[in-house]
Amino acid sequence: MPRRRSADRRWDTIARVASDDYRSASYQVWQAMAAGWDRERSWMWEVSRPVSENMLEALAPEPGQTILELAAGTGETGFGAAHAIGPAGRLISTDFAPEMVAAARRESARLGLTNVEHREMGAERMALEDDSVDGVLCRWGYMLMADPARALAETRRVLRAGGRLSFSVWGAAERNPWASVPARALMEHTGAPAPKPHDPGIFAMADPDRVRALVGDAGFGEPRLQEIEVSWRFADFDGYWRYLTDLAGGIALVLQGLPDADSDAVRSMVERGVAEFRTDGGLALPGVVLNAAAQ
Ligand SMILES: C[S@@+](CC[C@H](N)C(=O)[O-])C[C@H]1O[C@@H](n2cnc3c(N)ncnc32)[C@H](O)[C@@H]1O
Repeated sequence: MPRRRSADRRWDTIARVASDDYRSASYQVWQAMAAGWDRERSWMWEVSRPVSENMLEALAPEPGQTILELAAGTGETGFGAAHAIGPAGRLISTDFAPEMVAAARRESARLGLTNVEHREMGAERMALEDDSVDGVLCRWGYMLMADPARALAETRRVLRAGGRLSFSVWGAAERNPWASVPARALMEHTGAPAPKPHDPGIFAMADPDRVRALVGDAGFGEPRLQEIEVSWRFADFDGYWRYLTDLAGGIALVLQGLPDADSDAVRSMVERGVAEFRTDGGLALPGVVLNAAAQ
């Protein structure tokens, strides 16, 4: 069935292990997601705020410091640090996707933040001097990178001695049905193979032992790990489906490329898969992140 094969090919490309093909597919995904993330930033922030507040608490930014945010997306987490470091400090807000950087830049201007520098920058090779920043934030970024070990080594290189790293990755698939149910439905429907445990993707750093190993190998001390729960709330299944097709990274791009009949079939599978999370007010899908802080 040729229509299925085209969906399979997209999925295979997105899921490919550490390679330039993966990087360029991921770049295309996030370029395409930027408009939706920009439009829905207030709703996303409402859901994700406890994650960022915990990260900022661990970072403990001080007035006058230079803070680097990696894979900043639309920028919200870093903007919290920008307030704390004040006019004498500097937030370097970065992402490899120019559309995300543009969205973050528009928002910092709207907020009247004058201490933010926006840059297009990949986290696996940073155009920054050694020992040049006091703290690093990265929310939901490292696990998507083709080579998170390299990104963490780069993070260590640009951080001054004693500087703090505070980041967040998604926890185990079974505790994040909002993402694992549609991912499984897509695999079942297209016959695409499951990603290997360390393939880049949403669950690539869900194992706390892997996080500890990656952080330690990059030259940091033992990280402090904390689980934070989130709840993705939608007025109805249609709202969740819109989220999946507009904002959900690689899943969204695959869904957008499916012919109608395949899309309808996957939609029914997902609807059945999340039925247990129906509430009087719509849908409330649980999620768990792992926040890590290290020096
Ligand atoms: C799931 S979004 C998270 C965005 C933002 N940190 C947040 O939490 O709202 C992932 C972001 O990582 C960025 N990204 C992915 N791989 C990257 C890389 N190798 N270097 C820099 N940014 C990257 C994407 O462009 C995207 O903005």
